[in-house]
Amino acid sequence: MSQTTAPLTFEVDRRADVRPDAEREAVLANPGFGTHFTDHMVTATWRKGEGWTEGKVTAYGPITLMPSAAVLHYAQEIFEGMKAYRHEDGSIWTFRPEANAARMARSARRMTLPELPEEDFLGSLRALLEVDHAWVPPYDGSEKSLYLRPFMYASEAFLGVRPAAEVTYSVIASPAGAYFTGGLKPIRLWLSKDVSRAGRHGTGAAKCGGNYASSLAGQLEGIEQGCDQAVFLDAETETNIEELGGMNLFFVTRDDKLVTPALTGSILEGVTRDSVLELAKDFGLTPEERAIPVAEWIDGVSSGEVREVFACGTAAVITPVGELVWAGGSAPSTAGEGGGEVTRAIRQRLLDLQYGRADDTRGWLT
Ligand code: COI
Repeated sequence: MSQTTAPLTFEVDRRADVRPDAEREAVLANPGFGTHFTDHMVTATWRKGEGWTEGKVTAYGPITLMPSAAVLHYAQEIFEGMKAYRHEDGSIWTFRPEANAARMARSARRMTLPELPEEDFLGSLRALLEVDHAWVPPYDGSEKSLYLRPFMYASEAFLGVRPAAEVTYSVIASPAGAYFTGGLKPIRLWLSKDVSRAGRHGTGAAKCGGNYASSLAGQLEGIEQGCDQAVFLDAETETNIEELGGMNLFFVTRDDKLVTPALTGSILEGVTRDSVLELAKDFGLTPEERAIPVAEWIDGVSSGEVREVFACGTAAVITPVGELVWAGGSAPSTAGEGGGEVTRAIRQRLLDLQYGRADDTRGWLT
């Protein structure tokens, strides 16, 4: 559903209220995750036959949607997650935004939404950052950033089941601290056996809200068992590890392999996942993407074959994984108090790159 139109321009509505410096600074001192939002938002509209128009930057606030808007009924929606980082010299950078643009286009194809050209995707981020740059937390050596959330939804008021003829694209931004408040404390995972996240030929590889809604029952089950997150298995054989719903998983083996589940179509192609696979080589690790039976994890932590387990994502960066728990059993943690040596080293390198403390030899920063 791509369509050639002129690049979008994003007109700024200067009437938007800008919150006082003191209010913004109080938020930036303690942003949390996903609860505070900047002064502005971006929107653009797509109509069948017309393409993308009406790019604008307006005040952050409620959106007007008919109760019959297709997204509310049939969940035709996709989103992205990325961050803007302030470097020590005050400049602001995003990390591999082209990868997010490409993934959003893939998600759009799967969900029969219109593709937003890469230049419009990048232009929308730039437009928002230009007006809300003061909301990018100051560089202070911590992990604060401005989380950017581009999203697209079927805004057409129509109850027939077909791809929507009117779609809205938007970007909002939220100052962010650590996703997990425990810092490097290893997360405890619940092995979700009764709830699957995605199935074969389904939407698992698309970044669509439905996948996250589908993961919540497993996550809740885990939380009830004292876990932080749930890990999902492939729905077909219920043997192979897939992902956490909002994060991909990695295993460091005794023979220095960095193993992650292969992209089967039901796993999200994480930008952090891809970056970690690339960075592995800098640490003398051999990246490997393949099927990983959960038994390999359980047996591996006992035999010493699995040295470390970690999860990764844009929001959570890299988080050590501790104990794996299921109904009637558990596999012990190998993560100690603050994660294993490899987990911490890759995490540090990724953060150093994102915050401009390491040489960006791969040209990942924009
Ligand atoms: C991200 O890491 O950006 C995600 O999209 C995960 C989650 C916050 C939904």
